[in-house]
Amino acid sequence: MNSVEPQPDQLRDQDPEVASWLQREDNRQHTTLTLIASENHCSAAVRATGSSRLTDKYAEGYPSKRYYGGCEVADGIEELARARAMELFGAESANVQPHSGTSANVEALLALAGPNGRIVGMALKDGGHLSHGHPRSHTGMLFDAKQYGVDDNGRVDLDQVRELVREHRPHVLIAGGSSYARNLDYQAFADIARESEAFLLADIAHPAGLVAAGVVPSPVGIADVVTMTTHKTLRGPRGGMILAKADIAKKINSSVFPGSQGGPLVQQIAGKAVALGEALQPEFRDYQRRVKENAVHLADRLATAGLQIVSGGTDNHIVLVDLRSTDCTGAEVEERALAAGLAVNKNAVPNDPRPPMVTSGLRLGTPAVTTRGFGTAEIDQIADIIVALVRGENPENYRATVRELCEAHPLP
Ligand SMILES: Cc1ncc(COP(=O)(O)O)c(C=O)c1O
Repeated sequence: MNSVEPQPDQLRDQDPEVASWLQREDNRQHTTLTLIASENHCSAAVRATGSSRLTDKYAEGYPSKRYYGGCEVADGIEELARARAMELFGAESANVQPHSGTSANVEALLALAGPNGRIVGMALKDGGHLSHGHPRSHTGMLFDAKQYGVDDNGRVDLDQVRELVREHRPHVLIAGGSSYARNLDYQAFADIARESEAFLLADIAHPAGLVAAGVVPSPVGIADVVTMTTHKTLRGPRGGMILAKADIAKKINSSVFPGSQGGPLVQQIAGKAVALGEALQPEFRDYQRRVKENAVHLADRLATAGLQIVSGGTDNHIVLVDLRSTDCTGAEVEERALAAGLAVNKNAVPNDPRPPMVTSGLRLGTPAVTTRGFGTAEIDQIADIIVALVRGENPENYRATVRELCEAHPLP
């Protein structure tokens, strides 16, 4: 059979305007070092699925129980992705349909707490995620949400979590964060949840790849439900995924479809299958070990140069820098870094006196540069540039070094 995938030429001929935007993004990624902790560079094989004809296919329902004909390929792909997810994480069930991490959280919370149910999660300002009950997220509107924070050392205060859970009696307790660099004690969270007959939801959107590789502890088998994104450390296509204990899998599945979503994005599910296949290979463990090693090294180097690191270091791929003892804000350093060719993001630090669009912190992450092949020697160079930028040096002085690093370490 002659099946021709759309070629870039076809796009360039038909719609040069969009083609030139895509080219610009390609150039941007080639010439920028991504230190945004939630981003990565997936493989060409994963990317290929996104432009496949699967994008044309409706497959509402689940394998063998679809509401449309012609779903045999969608069935095969979804079964493969589910099987690989269960094998990789040692999970009893997997739903690979969530369109994003936020969708996965809303779907899991609606399944377990129900509308107007009670939830407890980490506050955004302390390192949690919007979808853990922030007032501006639907999770803060649909549910009666209470939030816990971190202590003066930047660590989750389990006594505060226990107290809040005893008081609020949530249907679901959430463990996980977006800018939390330390391992969570999932068993302690489970014990707190069980005491109040709450479900435990572990959101491993950030460390999913590290969890899969056994580089950080896994909540699978401890938490009732584990949600994640597939595009961060897991290095897959953009999307979400939910692992659940067998006895609640049905509830989760019907909350995803028909509860919250219509047709699944089959091309994204194919990308998830490819990424999960890659994650099952021994090289993936090696990659994740280097992601963590690089992050620990980055934190040490920055601290040695006098920068303050929230919680004093990292257990994963995230380094959260507290800029309050310097002259600059998170927004200023973000802008300077971008001018030097480093993509980073401003981020609130615990007890941050500045507003969210300014902040007093910088969140750095090593997944993308480690994918480009960075080791500790290159991390030293990056750390030294960041320190210089915080001290107010001209970003233009570093643009050439960053370009050389990019050229020496091409994208996959
Ligand atoms: C902990 C956590 N959960 C959920 C999400 C949401 O993922 P998405 O952006 O795919 O909705 C994020 C994204 O950064 C996250 O960090």
